[in-house]
Amino acid sequence: MKNFEFYNPVRVFFGKGETDRVGKECRKYGKRILLSYGGKSIHQSGLYDRVKKNLEAENLEVFELSGIQPNPRITSVRKGVEICKKEKINLILAVGGGSVIDCSKIIGAGAFYGGDPWDFFTKKAQPTSMLPLGTILTLAATGTEMNHNAVVTNDETGQKWAVVDPHIFPTFSILDPENTITVPRDQTVNGIVDMIVHVFEQYFHPTPETLLQDHLSEGIMQTIIETTPCLLAHLDDYNARATIMWCGTLALNHLVSTGVEDDWATHNIQHELSAIYDIAHGAGLAIIFPQWMKYVLDAIPGKMARFTEKVWNIPRNGKTDGELALVGIERTRQWFHEIGAPVSLGELQIGSERLEEMAHNAISRGPLGTTKKLGESDVLQILKMSLS
Ligand code: NZQ
Ligand code: ZN
Repeated sequence: MKNFEFYNPVRVFFGKGETDRVGKECRKYGKRILLSYGGKSIHQSGLYDRVKKNLEAENLEVFELSGIQPNPRITSVRKGVEICKKEKINLILAVGGGSVIDCSKIIGAGAFYGGDPWDFFTKKAQPTSMLPLGTILTLAATGTEMNHNAVVTNDETGQKWAVVDPHIFPTFSILDPENTITVPRDQTVNGIVDMIVHVFEQYFHPTPETLLQDHLSEGIMQTIIETTPCLLAHLDDYNARATIMWCGTLALNHLVSTGVEDDWATHNIQHELSAIYDIAHGAGLAIIFPQWMKYVLDAIPGKMARFTEKVWNIPRNGKTDGELALVGIERTRQWFHEIGAPVSLGELQIGSERLEEMAHNAISRGPLGTTKKLGESDVLQILKMSLS
């Protein structure tokens, strides 16, 4: 295990009915609130009216930024920063999935910056502070509700990049599983793929002697795998929604990556796919992750064999680590297929035309991963393997 520093200041309110504490909680930070959200979903579910009622009950003054798209754009961030500065906002309340929350994190940081917020992504500038940020999560997937990451797309440059910075943790997050019951099946699947791949990214690494982290990760993976069939059979099952919601948070609040050299190559490759084809994040991960596993297998055959035994409950039966690892990789790909995620680029009608461009962009900020350092030709190879 490596040395590490662990810091996570996010106050989490979890459970049925917790949504109704939003007004009182926001009130602690001032009177002027920017309510940020995406498209129609919060109107359709009634959550918008419920939140507004709660805020009004506390006499809060509410400004709005709506229309934040999936794979959020820097243009929405710029709009939000302008409102925060002009209206002297005290707190941003982000109601939605990862896209709304990520966008709001950068808005909150941009409110303290004189330049263009895209500078945080190019590393021309670093956040120095962020407006208090409350979130009401409506889609279990990214873990953004309890972490310090934000991913934003710049349409003009075709880049989808992340900021990871201790200033951008939410102040509080309300995780009311009932708010996720309206998530349709395909988005539910995308979220499940995303959260399990977050655990994969922090579990398949080259650091020795990480037994506790391995057990924690295996517990989350097993819980996701055990709960998914029940949830997909009954999308309105509160207990399954609650279990999956907490899995998503624990999968990426950085607890399981303490003391390990987490990898994240697959995420970086997938961000290129979303930047060019605007596909759902989870869909891209389901396609690429099994191919990445095959590509780096010879670096960590023991860990992949352990994964097959512990997570998929497949006995060794005399197989070598490498042979058992291959069984686990195939089982993972098959599971993605079973739950309805795509497992090849071909399924999304994506051909080989722009693979070189994606591979080139993916490593523009340096080689990817820790398990095996991946350069441009490695990424290209993984993308080619993902075609069918
Ligand atoms: O816009 P609305 O109408 O709200 O619809 C959204 C959107 O179309 C819908 N939705 C959300 N909650 C719903 C709902 N529909 C019905 N009922 C509800 N309760 O779902 C669609 C997708 O929403 P989005 O926020 O884009 O999904 P997700 O939470 O998966 O976020 C994906 C974004 O997060 C980034 C991804 O790259 C992507 O941009 N990530 C952020 C991370 C982080 N900050 O730590 C890590 C991840 O690896 C990821 O990169
Ligand atoms: Zn992800």
